[in-house]
Amino acid sequence: MLLREHERALFTDRDEILAALHRNADLIQQGEGVNLALVGQWRIGKTMIVQRFADDLLHERHSPLVPVYFNVARNLSVPSVFAVRLLAAIGHSFVEADGRQVEQSGGVLDAASLLTVVDQTREETIVATARQVTREMEKDRPDERLLLEITLSCLEQTAQHTGRKPLVILDEFHNVTQLDSFPHIKDMLSVVGQALSRQIEVGYIVASSNTSMVKRTVQSATSPLFDQFQVVPVPPFDRAATAEFCRKSLPEHLLTQETIARLFEFTSGHPFYLNCLTTAMRRLDQDKTGGDVLDRAIYEEILTREGRIYQYCQHRLETSLAEARGRTTLRSVLLVLAEGGKQTLSEIAAPLKRTPGEVRSYLKRLADFDLIGREGHRYYITDPIIALWIKFTILEREPEYSEYKDAIRRYLDRLAEQAA
Ligand SMILES: Nc1ncnc2c1ncn2[C@@H]1O[C@H](COP(=O)(O)OP(=O)(O)O)[C@@H](O)[C@H]1O
Ligand SMILES: [Mg+2]
Repeated sequence: MLLREHERALFTDRDEILAALHRNADLIQQGEGVNLALVGQWRIGKTMIVQRFADDLLHERHSPLVPVYFNVARNLSVPSVFAVRLLAAIGHSFVEADGRQVEQSGGVLDAASLLTVVDQTREETIVATARQVTREMEKDRPDERLLLEITLSCLEQTAQHTGRKPLVILDEFHNVTQLDSFPHIKDMLSVVGQALSRQIEVGYIVASSNTSMVKRTVQSATSPLFDQFQVVPVPPFDRAATAEFCRKSLPEHLLTQETIARLFEFTSGHPFYLNCLTTAMRRLDQDKTGGDVLDRAIYEEILTREGRIYQYCQHRLETSLAEARGRTTLRSVLLVLAEGGKQTLSEIAAPLKRTPGEVRSYLKRLADFDLIGREGHRYYITDPIIALWIKFTILEREPEYSEYKDAIRRYLDRLAEQAA
């Protein structure tokens, strides 16, 4: 099982996307499916969906497909180790699809630990591939591109040999391009593209929060993955799903219609924020801190350093800015947007003493991180909670609890007014 028990217990909705994934899985089984790309904001629930799907496929439906879940970001390493870990994941999945547990101590980083996993598959093609990988790894300078190619082509061979089709789920897919910096690889998307073009028995699902990168990759005619994936957007919860989540997550006496409505308004149905706030509400309710539990939860989660939403916002900005050139100016652009809400190029440029042209190129970079959106000529921070966090923790001093509610209310009202 990929999802833990408590995650499965809290799992809410996503019926439509799961149904689409299962329909496609049936089609893949008949040789007619497509590859899918799930895209959506950070922590909107992509991983939960694909893991739930893989669990259901295996344990509820007893499908002949073999789901192979692989988190690209978590397995990033030098290309040879990346290939070893991918092959181990493939081996792992075939053992589990056989109804057995993998016996393994520790992680897979080298050829020896790969072989202990792969031997358990009792599957010739996978074992042969692992031996080929092992031989290549013994060289002083293994051909890293070759290692990735043989690992990927093992999927098709195994399908042909066993009659069981692998359905490969590559989570955090956009990170594959991090391997481009290795001279043997140069262009990881073309390595994947080549593998795909030779495979008929293998299905792929990728998940990514980098919507712009994924769209470019599958919709631009010059991309090696052009037209190979159908894009499936993952939206936040709607009102009904938000209510269902709250019912699972909150004790009866906190579960008023008003609380649910306020949670929906405040989080826009974003599952991660909902999870943080309801978890904090349960804790505060126990603590008997007094006051309105939801107000306190919002305050502590977003505006105090210990809050999970606080830490998430900080992490999200730091990682996005760390990768970008010109991060000081990028940061300033964000501050201007957080303070003033939706604004045009020249309105953003003026206080920064930059030309609108310069600002446009910075905005484009922020859009690549899905931090900002555009409506007509005006730009804005896509996630109002991130905007709020920037405003109250970077621009201003974090307010005391007694004054924060009015401050937040005024701010959100202003953002809403501008959106209208
Ligand atoms: N369908 C869901 N049901 C219940 N909680 C969810 C659901 N989807 C997401 N969450 C909550 O949001 C968090 C982030 O979800 P995750 O799948 O990791 O997002 P992503 O992969 O898009 O970054 C989860 O840890 C969970 O708390
Ligand atoms: Mg994820």
